[in-house]
Amino acid sequence: MVNAIVRIIRGIFIAWFIKIFATNDIVRYQMLALVAEEINGKKVRGCVAELGVYKGDFAKRINSHFPDKTLYLFDTFNGFDKRDVDIERKLNNNANENDFTNSSVGLVLKKMKYPENCIVQKGWFPETAEHIEETFAFVSIDADLFEPIYQGLLYFYARLEKGGYIFVHDYNGKLYGAKEAVQRFSEEHNVSYVPLSDLCGTVVFSK
Ligand SMILES: C[S@@+](CC[C@H](N)C(=O)[O-])C[C@H]1O[C@@H](n2cnc3c(N)ncnc32)[C@H](O)[C@@H]1O
Repeated sequence: MVNAIVRIIRGIFIAWFIKIFATNDIVRYQMLALVAEEINGKKVRGCVAELGVYKGDFAKRINSHFPDKTLYLFDTFNGFDKRDVDIERKLNNNANENDFTNSSVGLVLKKMKYPENCIVQKGWFPETAEHIEETFAFVSIDADLFEPIYQGLLYFYARLEKGGYIFVHDYNGKLYGAKEAVQRFSEEHNVSYVPLSDLCGTVVFSK
């Protein structure tokens, strides 16, 4: 009973935080605009993508900055997967399968300026990316937990075009394992990144 109440309060807090703060993150949005200008100006090839779409509030900005690019949208659209949550708990983070369950593909697509550019990959990443043969110019990884972020970096960095960028959200967020995932990938693959001073401390990888 107490656990259920704590979970409900936590869910309300996360939804409130995203509505009030994460959807007003000027530094993150301006950085996206600048990076999009670079990519479009230099005609960097490849698609754009977001891993961790939720209600599409950052994805709609990606879609609008890249009118000529296919946008892949990766999400369960049903919150965290148990496999990732189990790994997160082993890292002593208090992840909850009920967070981010209140979204849908229809809701997200309605927000898009160019919905015809969107390809929705609904389900558990990295399974949903297995058959895709694309390269990428820009990717936003915003999946919160260690495992999907680490898998996302492995997958997308290998497929990132020269002149392309990857944003990883929540590097400085304290709830989950984003920082560990970024640091582990960076050390193992000998690639560096730049932390930004936006609300949750996005980091930027480039090629
Ligand atoms: C913080 S929310 C994304 C917020 C969104 N980028 C925005 O700006 O509003 C995290 C999302 O990652 C998704 N997610 C986490 N792990 C995933 C996985 N392994 N496969 C697919 N989606 C995942 C969750 O379903 C959730 O919608």
